[in-house]
Amino acid sequence: MDAKNFFDWCKRHKILLTVAAFLFIVVFGFVNIQILHMTSEPEFCAMCHPSRGFGPLAEVDSWEHSAHGEAGVSCLDCHGRPGVAGYVKAKIGGLKDTYMQFTISKEEKLEILSNPPKDLVPTWHCLFCHSDEGNKKVRETTKGPMKLVNMRMLDDVVNPAFRLNKGLPDILTETTVGGTHFDHKMHIDNFELNCRDCHFGVVHKPSSKTDKMNFCLTCHAENKGSAAPQMNDCHVCHAVQVAMNEGTGAKDVAGSAGIMYAAGIKCTDCHTGVTKGVFRPSGKTCSDCHSGDSGYVEIFQDWEKEVKEKLDILARQRVEVESALKAADAMKRDSKANWELYQKALQNMKFVESDGTFGVHNNDYANAIIKSVTADFTKITKNLEQKW
Ligand code: HEC
Ligand code: HEC
Ligand code: HEC
Ligand code: HEC
Ligand code: HEC
Ligand code: HEC
Ligand code: HEC
Ligand code: HEC
Repeated sequence: MDAKNFFDWCKRHKILLTVAAFLFIVVFGFVNIQILHMTSEPEFCAMCHPSRGFGPLAEVDSWEHSAHGEAGVSCLDCHGRPGVAGYVKAKIGGLKDTYMQFTISKEEKLEILSNPPKDLVPTWHCLFCHSDEGNKKVRETTKGPMKLVNMRMLDDVVNPAFRLNKGLPDILTETTVGGTHFDHKMHIDNFELNCRDCHFGVVHKPSSKTDKMNFCLTCHAENKGSAAPQMNDCHVCHAVQVAMNEGTGAKDVAGSAGIMYAAGIKCTDCHTGVTKGVFRPSGKTCSDCHSGDSGYVEIFQDWEKEVKEKLDILARQRVEVESALKAADAMKRDSKANWELYQKALQNMKFVESDGTFGVHNNDYANAIIKSVTADFTKITKNLEQKW
């Protein structure tokens, strides 16, 4: 077939050709997008960040065991800025990673990974998910489209809905967060702190709770002569633990004070090591006060074990309920009332979690709350199973 005949053939088969060209573009584009998808997955990152545990090279493993990993917040949700432009930029950064992998030594790589720049994930980026104001600002100023196809969680984050459905506080307006009375905005504005100063290693090497309290104590220790609460003012910072001891704080669940708290035992009667820097008591604290009776160590362990097991079951149930709700949304069903019930249940569940003692502060109340959350989850599942 010479050129002329070919063009003639093309003219005669216009439609066929258009369809073929169209298919070519679709298939090629699809392959491209698949490659983009694939190279955004944690499994791909693990090829060059393969270690186990915490610290440099173990970024994938540490992520897998973090709260973010469990909630499905993926690498590029933090290591790529919002919007299509931010996504593409992250991909280009990935090419640099690949180039560096083959050109620098293992020691040089470790050196880079051990000293991440302060703004590797900038504060405004965290605020995009963790506040309403920060979310709005970024959505309004992001140039270009937010997304083309479903690539990652980040581009779908619209607050307050995202936050509420994940049971997260607005950290710029709420002053009780994760169980602690702490005003993020005031501290960040007045002392120019950024997220990493306190959540250092969030995801990859989370700081311990003792580290965190010690950081507060750099300003909140005794005799600094300021208006700020001091070390012995446990009740000011530990809002949730106070509420749990008192038997209040969960929505729509009646309760009464914990056994010991009701008998007049104060925070520092159990938390006896605080002035020595040991904040957390153990089972021995129980037997010490209960005339050396080691049976109380067992009671302590039983309380803890039972509540922990129940919370684990709830955590799995929660994932199922959340995806059932999302499926209902996708089918355009009216799920508003069920989402509201879910948000309430989630708040109650997080209340027990953030007390952090698995029912030791107030065993009856913790168990009553768990029972109520289980009932709420079951009710939502039933509602969604009903024909409409
Ligand atoms: C082909 C190997 C390779 C793959 C795959 C890879 N990385 Fe890297 N990564 C590196 C190397 C080498 C460095 C250190 C040099 C540099 O900064 O580019 C690095 C550094 C980084 C840094 C730190 C940058 C800095 O400035 O401190 C981040 C964040 C990162 N990678 C995230 C990721 C994510 C997320 C993925 C998966 C989407 C990924 N990497 C996949 C090789 C890789
Ligand atoms: C894509 C949205 C998103 C981004 C970006 C994000 N987070 Fe989160 N974050 C979440 C979700 C969802 C959870 C809830 C996990 C759960 O269900 O408990 C969470 C939980 C947390 C928690 C509580 C759990 C823990 O690990 O202690 C802290 C603290 C936190 N985020 C801080 C940060 C910081 C700091 C940044 C920036 C480096 C950040 N987040 C970026 C969505 C995000
Ligand atoms: C001065 C220390 C400090 C700074 C700075 C700080 N935080 Fe926090 N943050 C805390 C404390 C304390 C808590 C409550 C205890 C906890 O959950 O760890 C908390 C709780 C949170 C929670 C809620 C966790 C939950 O379980 O619900 C999120 C989300 C969070 N911080 C995000 C951020 C982000 C994003 C930044 C940066 C804009 C930031 N924080 C800066 C100390 C700090
Ligand atoms: C919630 C946000 C968030 C998520 C999700 C996240 N990271 Fe990070 N990552 C950070 C922050 C913040 C730093 C800065 C150092 C620090 O504070 O630990 C960091 C640092 C890093 C570094 C620099 C070296 C180091 O160890 O500090 C690498 C590499 C990295 N992350 C890779 C990953 C990979 C791969 C994933 C997915 C498996 C991932 N990150 C998921 C927030 C995140
Ligand atoms: C850089 C010093 C500094 C650090 C670090 C710091 N604070 Fe403060 N904080 C202050 C000062 C100063 C005040 C008093 C402000 C006022 O009342 O004008 C204060 C006030 C408070 C208050 C009482 C005001 C209110 O919100 O009702 C609480 C509660 C508090 N801080 C909790 C914390 C916690 C929890 C941490 C650790 C995560 C922490 N602070 C870390 C300096 C600090
Ligand atoms: C200025 C605020 C502040 C004051 C006052 C304070 N704490 Fe804390 N404490 C914190 C923060 C913040 C954490 C970390 C919480 C978290 O990450 O969930 C913490 C953590 C703890 C932990 C957990 C330690 C661990 O490693 O598991 C215990 C126990 C504790 N505090 C007891 C007390 C007691 C008892 C008092 C009173 C004597 C007290 N705290 C006073 C802010 C404070
Ligand atoms: C009957 C003894 C007892 C009393 C009273 C008590 N606690 Fe505790 N508290 C404990 C024990 C035991 C733990 C550690 C539980 C564990 O490891 O599971 C703990 C843990 C904590 C923690 C760490 C929670 C976490 O996030 O890991 C905080 C904070 C705390 N208590 C604050 C308080 C405050 C504030 C009060 C007073 C309102 C108080 N406690 C009263 C025994 C007590
Ligand atoms: C500072 C002293 C003190 C500490 C520490 C303490 N208790 Fe108690 N406990 C009491 C008092 C006082 C009562 C109330 C006795 C009464 O009213 O009969 C009590 C009552 C109880 C009861 C119900 C009545 C009984 O004697 O069986 C249990 C169960 C119990 N405590 C378990 C524990 C456990 C578990 C711990 C450790 C987490 C603990 N206690 C720590 C002082 C303490």
